[in-house]
Amino acid sequence: MKITEHHITDEKNYLNRRSFIKKSAKFGAGLALFNSASSLAEGVEGGGWSDKITTTSYGKDLTPHSFKEISNYNNFYEFGTGKRDPAKNAHTLKPNPWHVKISGECSKQGNYDLEDFIAPYQLEERIYRLRCVEAWSMVIPWVGVSLAEMLKTFQPTSKAKYVVFKTLLDKVQMPGQKRPILNWPYTEGLTIAEAMNPLSFLAVGLYGKVLPNQNGAPMRLVVPWKYGFKSIKSIVSIHFQETMPLNTWQEQASNEYGFYANVNPNVDHPRWSQARERVIGRGSFFKPEKRKTEIFNGYGDEVAHLYAGLDLRKNF
Ligand code: MTE
Repeated sequence: MKITEHHITDEKNYLNRRSFIKKSAKFGAGLALFNSASSLAEGVEGGGWSDKITTTSYGKDLTPHSFKEISNYNNFYEFGTGKRDPAKNAHTLKPNPWHVKISGECSKQGNYDLEDFIAPYQLEERIYRLRCVEAWSMVIPWVGVSLAEMLKTFQPTSKAKYVVFKTLLDKVQMPGQKRPILNWPYTEGLTIAEAMNPLSFLAVGLYGKVLPNQNGAPMRLVVPWKYGFKSIKSIVSIHFQETMPLNTWQEQASNEYGFYANVNPNVDHPRWSQARERVIGRGSFFKPEKRKTEIFNGYGDEVAHLYAGLDLRKNF
């Protein structure tokens, strides 16, 4: 592996940062990220929220990619289809103020200011693998809240069998939506059991900083056992419903992308193998480092029970 300056700097900062998070309570910083005086946008390193994040054991044995890698190699078609387009173009997104609408089969529907929406929950740092359906992968230290904890607040009814998420629809903030490459807004869904699984996460930051726009600011889904396209960015709507929704990529090419999209090395994409994955930034251009893809992206112990009795070839 070619170790670059960025690598070393980022990893060193990160280690400092982790010890900073642990120590910060001691200094009594007392800064609340989500109180009315502060904002998500101000919650940068050393600023408003470091004392609010608890570290967890999720991914403690994984080595995260650098902040630079995570924020410069992205899929976010609302800002272009190239991997570097989101980092170049996502400055037009305005993540503050931001509202999230809760609707459908639940008792507490409403339109919530993002800060009020996140405030009741414990911010956690979780290091997860991200495996894209395009057969590349990264390791990302997210900051966010448990999706299950959040969803329970809205008291889904017994008819809430699925949860549907939507990205902002705004051609000015998201110029990529001027082109009909996908049926905007980007839409994704989970079964209620998947959404309530402890691994499901709503990220509002990474590396202890607020989410960069290109990574889905101000709030995006993270479901680490599924292909990355399920992890929808810049969410403005969460809807509970009884019927299985059609997600954006499924609508685009239903022979290639299914509803479940669980990472599975045994079920190939019609146009390429899913047995292995290229690890971003590792190895060389001519000999990229590859690793074997794991069933459920290595999270089988936590999630395999959700699919007992389901034919994973048919339900891909
Ligand atoms: N969400 C929206 N709204 N638009 C997108 O194009 N791309 C998906 C997912 N979420 C996408 C999206 C895909 S294909 C992947 S792999 C991940 O975001 C990439 O997340 P990252 O750029 O933060 O690594």
